[in-house]
Amino acid sequence: MKSILVGGLLLWVASVACADAAAGKVRAATACAVCHGPLGLSLQPNVPHLAGQPQFYLVEQLRNYRSGKRQHEVMSVIAKPLSDQEIEDVSQWYASLQVQVEEK
Ligand code: HEC
Repeated sequence: MKSILVGGLLLWVASVACADAAAGKVRAATACAVCHGPLGLSLQPNVPHLAGQPQFYLVEQLRNYRSGKRQHEVMSVIAKPLSDQEIEDVSQWYASLQVQVEEK
């Protein structure tokens, strides 16, 4: 029993440590780009940009939508089926995108 618990714990640590931006990119292209834009810059006034946001922040928001702590009619439905790994991966990819800001 003890070794199963230890094994489970190690597996959990491994999956958290290995966010895969490439897998997240594939996932985002099919599940998120239609609203958040192909490179995480939204073209719709009611949808936020995701590109360049800290991975920590994105993971937290997606977990909150999934758990119901943060509620939105669209995002709560979208986040519901995402696994911890998928949340880590898409967040890693959006966080890896560089955003340049210019003052007009
Ligand atoms: C049908 C349109 C739509 C799709 C598809 C969609 N989103 Fe969203 N997303 C939204 C809207 C609208 C909001 C703003 C919700 C709010 O006000 O809480 C949002 C908010 C978010 C936020 C919070 C951003 C912030 O600044 O706090 C994250 C993170 C996010 N979406 C990630 C994703 C991911 C990852 C996917 C794909 C798995 C996805 N979204 C797919 C419409 C969409």
